[in-house]
Amino acid sequence: TEETLVLVKPDGVARGLTGTILARIEAKGYSLVDIRLVEPSRDLLAQHYAEHEGKPFYEPLLEFMMSGPVVAIRLAGNRVIEGFRSLAGTTDPTTAAPGTIRGDLGRDWGLAVQQNLVHGSDSPESAARELAIWF
Ligand code: GTP
Ligand code: MG
Repeated sequence: TEETLVLVKPDGVARGLTGTILARIEAKGYSLVDIRLVEPSRDLLAQHYAEHEGKPFYEPLLEFMMSGPVVAIRLAGNRVIEGFRSLAGTTDPTTAAPGTIRGDLGRDWGLAVQQNLVHGSDSPESAARELAIWF
């Protein structure tokens, strides 16, 4: 079995979608190993988003991620890294496929791509690195 880091981002928590998102994750059959409500510091987010430092959306992304609490989840299951990203849908919620978390629940609210409800690690290396940051 495999583990991944899932985040319900501040838009998901503020919109009251944490339960809906958890229900989709549980219905898929993944296991919650650990879960916590976090108000992430800039330092934590700079570590988490190190790969994006210097990109035009980096500062707005950090500001957005500090705009309210985030739910961090240690999630386990067979091929959960790839599987959760499939459940989440593509990055831009406006065009993410129906049936996915981003496609069904998200859209462009004016801050575009960054308000896309969830994060999921993109590789085993990312998952190990990110889980160590958040847990
Ligand atoms: P995560 O699961 O959150 O990592 O999403 P991802 O892997 O689909 O996207 P990526 O790692 O490339 O980017 C991380 C996050 O930065 C995204 O989820 C968005 O919130 C934000 N982001 C990425 N690209 C853009 C962009 O072009 N503009 C803006 N405003 N935000 C972006
Ligand atoms: Mg990513």
